[in-house]
Amino acid sequence: MNVITVEGLSFKYRRAERHSLRDISFSVKKGELVGIIGPSGSGKSTLCLTLNGIIPNSIKGEFRGTVIIRDPRTGEEFNTRETPVPRLSTVVGLVLQNPESQLFNMTVEEEIAFGLENLGLERNEVLRRLRWALEVTGLKGLEREFPPNLSGGQQQRLAIAAVLAMEPAIIVLDEPTSQLDPVGRKEVLGLVSLLNREHGITVVLVEHHTDYILRYADRVLVMADGSIVMEGKPAEIAEEAEELRKLGVKLPPVLEISHELRKRQLLDRVVLTPEEFPSRIGHRAR
Ligand SMILES: Nc1ncnc2c1ncn2[C@@H]1O[C@H](COP(=O)(O)OP(=O)(O)OP(=O)(O)O)[C@@H](O)[C@H]1O
Ligand SMILES: [Mg+2]
Repeated sequence: MNVITVEGLSFKYRRAERHSLRDISFSVKKGELVGIIGPSGSGKSTLCLTLNGIIPNSIKGEFRGTVIIRDPRTGEEFNTRETPVPRLSTVVGLVLQNPESQLFNMTVEEEIAFGLENLGLERNEVLRRLRWALEVTGLKGLEREFPPNLSGGQQQRLAIAAVLAMEPAIIVLDEPTSQLDPVGRKEVLGLVSLLNREHGITVVLVEHHTDYILRYADRVLVMADGSIVMEGKPAEIAEEAEELRKLGVKLPPVLEISHELRKRQLLDRVVLTPEEFPSRIGHRAR
């Protein structure tokens, strides 16, 4: 079942000279983790904003094509163009790149409950969701903390908790680790993977740490200049090192090394994670 169906999507920001999205079509199935990579300015963030309706409902411009979101729990379909953003946010949650910009309450608890109060939920339901969001994001015990006092990884997990409390079936994350150190990055990406595997949440993840995408994504979309220029499983995308370099996508060391070893006939195929090296390195190319 497709939960996201994008067809012929083009978008030009007001007063921009060029289109930021050009005739994009793709779909995402229920339960998938789809990774999006591409050079700076290729339209990744713009695409994220179209998935929960901020574009074209709040950010206007020249919009063509359709984005259909389906709630897998009820089967209801929403055309983003005709659905208010608050309604969509109970189906698709969007986590922005910069967590501070999404946090504005005095405590962790209030931050998570904030969106829920606007949904008009009963007190017990608010508490149930609050507890679940704290639990799953590992923020239990920090309920009364002042968000700016949290570490970068904790702040980003809090932004995710606030989105999760809305119980979306789909979450879209726009470079959720770009401001984090390796520890924070692991915390956040580990959480994203857990939400997908254990909680059945469909994930669209923009991440320029391509190694993570190769490791965990079911499918990868590569964007360049507002278009999707490549699409495939991580193993297929990994074969396209030359093409990715040309597009300006930085390859993770594991790919650089495995392409080099294969060139020297020390490896029969490109590997996606460092752990695979020992078991592949004996398999010489014929
Ligand atoms: N609010 C805006 N108004 C006008 N043009 C914009 C606006 N936001 C983005 N753009 C332009 O749209 C294009 C795509 O930008 P976008 O931010 O979607 O790219 P990105 O792939 O997310 O880049 P990055 O990797 O740097 O985050 C760029 O040319 C950018 O300058
Ligand atoms: Mg961006």
